[in-house]
Amino acid sequence: MTSPDLPTELKAALDSKLRGFSRSDAAGRASVISQAYRGGGGSGTIRTEADALAYALARMPATYAAVTASLNALAEIRPDFAPKRLLDVGAGPGTATWAAAETFSSLANFTLLDANDALRTLAQNLVRGSMRLHDIAYERGEARAALAKTDAADLVIASYMIGEIGDAEQRAIAELMWAKTDDTLLVVEPGTPTGYARIIALRAHLIALGAHVAAPCPHDGKCPLQPPDWCHFSQRLQRSRAHMQVKGAEVPFEDERFSYVALTRVPVVQRPSRLLAQPIVNKVEITAKLCTPEGLAFTKVPRRAKADYARARRWRWGDPVMEES
Ligand SMILES: C[S@@+](CC[C@H](N)C(=O)[O-])C[C@H]1O[C@@H](n2cnc3c(N)ncnc32)[C@H](O)[C@@H]1O
Repeated sequence: MTSPDLPTELKAALDSKLRGFSRSDAAGRASVISQAYRGGGGSGTIRTEADALAYALARMPATYAAVTASLNALAEIRPDFAPKRLLDVGAGPGTATWAAAETFSSLANFTLLDANDALRTLAQNLVRGSMRLHDIAYERGEARAALAKTDAADLVIASYMIGEIGDAEQRAIAELMWAKTDDTLLVVEPGTPTGYARIIALRAHLIALGAHVAAPCPHDGKCPLQPPDWCHFSQRLQRSRAHMQVKGAEVPFEDERFSYVALTRVPVVQRPSRLLAQPIVNKVEITAKLCTPEGLAFTKVPRRAKADYARARRWRWGDPVMEES
């Protein structure tokens, strides 16, 4: 499993950019940017190098953790998946590229694209000293036009990106991303009802075009969850001192809620059920909420079934659960 915390090389690159950068200035900029996101706006408020750095400081650790958790789930289901080429759509500061490079040592070719100049410049500065990533290709431009010109890749990722484009455009971009996917497309969004709704719409649209779900769902059918419930997961990450200062946070960790879907061209052979919440443990039994190939299930594992109970105690929200467990 790849760690959800930023790799040492990336932390060092960020730290060196941060030298001499006022934390209160960064906090002010990060707050303006996050208010814009909360108000349904996009990354348009990120205009300067200082804005991009403030965004990276405040949000990159969490989006990195969410992408890594999604990639870990994919790698767990497909241990033989060894992508060579990556395409990171709406790459921003390069978050998903760093996460994919950490997860898949097979990756040798990295193409990123984004319309935001400040984030692109920051991404290029961050990879400059990296052995693995110093040679990335970062295309500048709107996703639709840039995707049309880009080569296909084994792994295509859009992380925290599709929420910045309108509904009709989301469908067009989803189709284009799928057309550029030789093997697997991963889309990650905030773990809110609206983030989930975007994932579920893209999922249905691409299944109709022949895609199969590798994770998190153990089926290609309709999502069994009914509103107000929604499918999302949670990843804990450590906060650095600078991260805490910029967020005005008091605890040295945060839990990032995210929704995701990994879609493949060829169906995955075995798709295990998945835990949709942290199981509830009491003295008598463990109750687990599972998405199964047959739909939603609340499984109870009694304490007296010692081996099963011991196994179920290790279950964590988001884990796959094999049939025999
Ligand atoms: C919230 S940021 C996420 C960045 C990065 N993927 C991450 O996970 O940290 C969204 C990114 O999508 C890019 N973006 C949004 N709409 C776009 C479009 N139509 N074409 C290209 N890039 C776009 C923004 O410029 C921004 O860099």
